[in-house]
Amino acid sequence: MLINLNGKLVPKEKAVISVFDHGLLYGDGVFEGIRFYSKNIFKLEEHIDRLYNSAKAIMLTIPISKEQMIKEHVKTVKASPLKDGYIRTVVTRGVGDLGLDPKKCREGAAYFIIADAISMYPEEYYLNGLAITTVAMRRSLAECLDPKIKSLNYLNNIMAKIECANHGSLEAVMINNAGYVAEATGDNLFIVTGGAVITPDMSAGALDGITRETVIDLAKTLKIKVVEKMLTRYDLYTADECFLTGTAAEIIPVTKIDGRVIGTGKPGPVTHKLIAKYKTLTKKVGVKVK
Ligand SMILES: Cc1ncc(COP(=O)(O)O)c(C=O)c1O
Repeated sequence: MLINLNGKLVPKEKAVISVFDHGLLYGDGVFEGIRFYSKNIFKLEEHIDRLYNSAKAIMLTIPISKEQMIKEHVKTVKASPLKDGYIRTVVTRGVGDLGLDPKKCREGAAYFIIADAISMYPEEYYLNGLAITTVAMRRSLAECLDPKIKSLNYLNNIMAKIECANHGSLEAVMINNAGYVAEATGDNLFIVTGGAVITPDMSAGALDGITRETVIDLAKTLKIKVVEKMLTRYDLYTADECFLTGTAAEIIPVTKIDGRVIGTGKPGPVTHKLIAKYKTLTKKVGVKVK
């Protein structure tokens, strides 16, 4: 496997970064998770835009232009033996000293791009739905670390993931400090109630998911009403359907939340329709790697 390390394709064993890199020492950096289907990189421009926005928010200068970053992704996927896969793009503040001051990272930001396989959940959960649980760990406040920034500091999400695993569940519903539903640990959350597709408003504290946006667009083309608003746990428990969205997980049905069966207990018709549309779209669009 070849890894793109600062623009050079190097074997996996040689793709190493310094122990003085502030991405490792302080979680000082940003990242993206992108999929490619039949060598087409899905929503690449959107992911690159989000990467540069995350970097801007933390005042991290990415050493290459967006156009060049797109080319680096194409180059990495071209070098991969995989037709379908997952890309992890990471930009770190770079090598500094042991103080956290980013100004001391004098060599500037470093980046790497990995193209590999990924599998999030076993197939049975896509067929029967996930059982998820609310956790005590709150989604971080936008005033502290805005969930819109896809930073290398994922401890908030990781601790929620550990907490739900401790209770025997595979995924967590994260609530914000005001008690409203924000998102799952690595996915956005949707419900279907009264025929409308409803998802927490971005101000509840969630990543501006690219799959979320895609699903909203698909629902609109299917003439399904889409609502973005504050949701409580009651809204989830009483929904007809529920599903999670994310680049890696794609669209995964949820059939139980905190022990409450959602709808009929089986993935619902709207979820099925959106999954089918999403699958078709991933085959149709994307940046082609020749
Ligand atoms: C916290 C969080 N929420 C939601 C998502 C889903 O976002 P996307 O659909 O852009 O992958 C992700 C994955 O990137 C995530 O890490």
